[in-house]
Amino acid sequence: MTTEQREEQWMASELASIARQRDPYPWYREMRSRGPIRYDDDRDAYDVFHYDEVVTLATDWERFTRHGTSFIDGAMMDRGPPEHTGLRGMAESSFRPGNLREYRPKFERQADALLDDALEGSCSLDFVEDIAKPLPIMIIAEMLGVPTDKLDTFRDWSTALAEAPAQPTPAARQATQQRKREALRQVTDFFDRAIELREDDPRDDLITTMLEAEAASDRITRQQTVANCAMLLIAGNITTTTYMANALWTYVQEGLVGDIQDRTLDIETANEELLRYRSPVIAIKRFATVDTELGGTAVEVTVDPNLEGSVLSVVEQAVLELVENAIQHTDEDAAVCVEVRLTDEDDVAFVVSDTGPGLPPMERRVLEGGSETPLEHSQGLGLWLTHWLVQIAGGSVDFGDNDPRGTVISVRVPRL
Ligand code: HEM
Repeated sequence: MTTEQREEQWMASELASIARQRDPYPWYREMRSRGPIRYDDDRDAYDVFHYDEVVTLATDWERFTRHGTSFIDGAMMDRGPPEHTGLRGMAESSFRPGNLREYRPKFERQADALLDDALEGSCSLDFVEDIAKPLPIMIIAEMLGVPTDKLDTFRDWSTALAEAPAQPTPAARQATQQRKREALRQVTDFFDRAIELREDDPRDDLITTMLEAEAASDRITRQQTVANCAMLLIAGNITTTTYMANALWTYVQEGLVGDIQDRTLDIETANEELLRYRSPVIAIKRFATVDTELGGTAVEVTVDPNLEGSVLSVVEQAVLELVENAIQHTDEDAAVCVEVRLTDEDDVAFVVSDTGPGLPPMERRVLEGGSETPLEHSQGLGLWLTHWLVQIAGGSVDFGDNDPRGTVISVRVPRL
């Protein structure tokens, strides 16, 4: 299975349909009655249903890692302790109740303004479009200190990063992956610049708080600060929109609107309970780091330490980015796909294919032959470096044609 397929199929296929996502509870009940865990051969993954085993998964960081589960590497949500402690500490104080209370009047005014706009000249509104979508991104943008005139762009990034392919076809998968990579590039470039600006001009915002935490630490890198900022912008956005929509839907469906209006039902208690009653997050993922046991079931390692989270996954990313960049210089619409697998000879193969005009001749010469690079951009150096790394590792680079157009580049490296 390729990295992309693994990424795409981590959630149980029974949860794929919108109808099931709206109401997964009968299926959860049925699965709980069958036992704590089931192994799904199609996805080569385990689904965990009982409380105790889920708690173990979420807290036993040694056996079950979050590394590689998030859309962005290096953010707190992608790490366990001890790294996680430092990364979480960067933002924690800003989310304490006392701090959030200070923001409250401003956020209430923003919600009122959205309601006023939506109801101007009308006596009805579309709650999801008019309120639940814009409000969460407005609030986190305000806390981070990023321009509120870019809210639509931030929402587009969030949507792209949470997107699943519309069809289970290679073309749909490639297109989705391409949109994700592009959104990730834009969001990291954006925060790179925003952080740089604050180095000379600190502000009263969450980006500056995180920059100060980075400066005070000898372990937190700039890449991690960028990743944490990007994660905060993206992670709480679609979740909160879904939560607000679920809340209104549930209160209407359960006939509770009157009780909330006349305060027979305390709205804060109802909102809190709603997180359990109808959660916006219906599954989370972990990778087993060792062959182990959970709820009486033998669980096989799902992260091959020789393949994932190692230097090889960095090479995978580097090769992909280099080829993608080189190709996009000539055709912006070309899709690039990378597949990683173990060969029969126990080598690791990265097969990078594109649907564009292929790798330009100069780039190909540098990657293939390691000739001194006449390419003046850093990608040229990167291609040369990839050739050199593969060569000293005793690997090879081969080129073929993609069908109907494009190149297939196979980079083989002996397994470490
Ligand atoms: C109702 C809305 C939300 C729901 C249902 C939700 C759900 C979750 C869940 C299930 C996790 C754990 C993921 C895992 O361990 O794999 C998580 C983590 C996280 N969420 Fe949310 N979230 C919501 C809103 C937000 C908001 C508004 C923000 C920030 C602006 C946010 C930021 C985070 C962060 C930073 C983490 C990682 C915490 C850590 O690693 O210590 N979330 N969220």
